[in-house]
Amino acid sequence: MFAKLVKPLQSRSNEVLAALLPKAGKHQSNLAEAMRYAVLSPGKRIRPVLTYLTGQALGVPLTTLDNAAASVELIHAYSLIHDDLPAMDDDDLRRGRPTCHKKFDEATAILAGDALQALAFEVLVRESSETIAPDVKVKMVKSLAISSGVFGMAGGQAVDLAAAGKKMTEDQMERMHLLKTGALIKASVMLGYHLADLNNEELSQALENYAHCLGLAFQVQDDILDVEGDTEIIGKPQGSDHVSDKATYPKLLGLKQAKETADKLIATAVASLGVLKENAEPLRILAEYVIKREK
Ligand code: IPE
Ligand code: IPE
Ligand code: MG
Ligand code: MG
Ligand code: MG
Repeated sequence: MFAKLVKPLQSRSNEVLAALLPKAGKHQSNLAEAMRYAVLSPGKRIRPVLTYLTGQALGVPLTTLDNAAASVELIHAYSLIHDDLPAMDDDDLRRGRPTCHKKFDEATAILAGDALQALAFEVLVRESSETIAPDVKVKMVKSLAISSGVFGMAGGQAVDLAAAGKKMTEDQMERMHLLKTGALIKASVMLGYHLADLNNEELSQALENYAHCLGLAFQVQDDILDVEGDTEIIGKPQGSDHVSDKATYPKLLGLKQAKETADKLIATAVASLGVLKENAEPLRILAEYVIKREK
């Protein structure tokens, strides 16, 4: 059920990303190559899939959703490149391959992140997307900018780095996770909502609540996978958080309670979707996939 729903959207997102990225072999070919390497490596594409599923649930055609879906993945890929740098988490493996700074070099990896961030905003406002109203584009740019910046992903990453080796309360950790990971998940959903151009406060609130709980659960689950995941399957070094003495949910609450927290959050996320009635089904399936733990 999950595969049938998600596989075609993952493939579609891969194709759109491949077409939007600069071609290697032209100017700055090393930089272009590093950008393609980091983005087109085998990620799960959860964020673009969320944009597609939200938009589809509201009747938006897939072609209208393509660039918005790609834009969040571009920001996400940039965040992963920088997250892996020696000055940050210092990891060598990402999506089962050498991290960008290992495959290329640190300077190229930093610039690839910078250029991906710029590209993300450019693809949101392309002239070719003339079917999208200018005010909708402005809303999307604002949503993606806020979720990427100091009040979103980058801010959360700063808290994460400052928290290593320190004790945090559950409230503090929740805030950190909502910023570093939740914000972009929320943007993924809200870009789909903006493209539907509905101005429906009840629906917008419902989707925000869904994305809020899903985004937090996503990072709690990522923390759990760092403890009990398999490097082969997760494609990144298991135990990295432990080595860096990161503030994580399993460290704070223990594994069992961390799992219960993620499960409860997903139940709340799904319960928020009532207003969408049967159109909520794909978003429910996606949320439940995030906490699937059988091997
Ligand atoms: C990993 O995200 C980093 C977090 C923000 C938790 P994903 O688990 O979505 O990574 P990919 O894109 O599938 O590699
Ligand atoms: C990542 O958190 C959050 C980002 C904004 C990239 P992690 O540092 O836990 O992500 P992984 O485990 O390296 O993918
Ligand atoms: Mg990190
Ligand atoms: Mg990391
Ligand atoms: Mg992690």
